[in-house]
Amino acid sequence: MFASRYGPWAVVAGASEGMGAEFARQLSARGLKVVLIARREQVLTELARTLPGETRCLALDLAQPDAAAQIAAATAELDVGLLVYNAALSPIGPFAEQSLEENLRALDVNVRTPTALAHHFVPRLIKRGRGGLVLLSSLTAFQGSPFVATYGATKSYNLALAEGLWAELRGTGVDVLSVCAGATATPNLLKAITKPPPGMQQPAEVVREALDGLARGPVLIPGAFNRFASFFMRRVLSRRTTIQIMGDQTRKLQLPS
Ligand SMILES: NC(=O)c1ccc[n+]([C@@H]2O[C@H](COP(=O)([O-])OP(=O)(O)OC[C@H]3O[C@@H](n4cnc5c(N)ncnc54)[C@H](OP(=O)(O)O)[C@@H]3O)[C@@H](O)[C@H]2O)c1
Repeated sequence: MFASRYGPWAVVAGASEGMGAEFARQLSARGLKVVLIARREQVLTELARTLPGETRCLALDLAQPDAAAQIAAATAELDVGLLVYNAALSPIGPFAEQSLEENLRALDVNVRTPTALAHHFVPRLIKRGRGGLVLLSSLTAFQGSPFVATYGATKSYNLALAEGLWAELRGTGVDVLSVCAGATATPNLLKAITKPPPGMQQPAEVVREALDGLARGPVLIPGAFNRFASFFMRRVLSRRTTIQIMGDQTRKLQLPS
């Protein structure tokens, strides 16, 4: 059922570790063939060897201006039914001390390339009358987030883009979902924390919820703790207080000195 709705091929952008690798594993286990994209070719190849279904590996930097065009060319012969855009760049620390270059690279990886890829795949999905688009967002999407201000703003963009496309594509057979994850135990997060934040989920749980909820867009907040925290912060606390809490949480990450 899942494979006939979203297969035969899925493209996972940012697939070499953490949640991206988990998307690849669970999609493959659900019977899809998977195109794995990330910068580290060897890691992708090793992951591909462990997957039960057919795979293609594409090593490229999603910050490059022609990344979407390269992916379009590499998948031209494949019947792609699902795009999962998982990769993100998150410059951490006071905005005034971060390099402009790194912040602009975050816009390329988190905004420019997913927009270009959605623009490439959405008309094709509409034409075939079935498929899906999953954009990874975050709880940071719902308000400004101190010390990851640019990253948080890009995640608000991913959320808004997914919501807009979800409404546009209703009735076409194409499902759109924005996954607003909370703390998830990926290698990237584990490198930045000294102790587990409350409600931290495993990548496998987040991905299972995302794939199970793909037809129930436009927004999924995985994990009961995250759903409660998000409800409380958006509906009970003032926006100022919520922004402050986000800042206090991020300050606990290991900010670059
Ligand atoms: N982890 C959390 O706590 C958390 C919380 C909320 C939302 N999220 C969202 O969930 C998604 C994944 O989170 P994560 O950062 O923890 O990552 P992850 O899924 O553990 O790994 C990120 C993946 O993206 C790839 N990638 C990163 N930059 C790339 C680039 N420029 N070009 C090509 N591939 C690139 C990495 O591979 P290479 O290094 O091999 O290129 C890796 O495979 C992100 O969209 C993030 O915003 C995460």
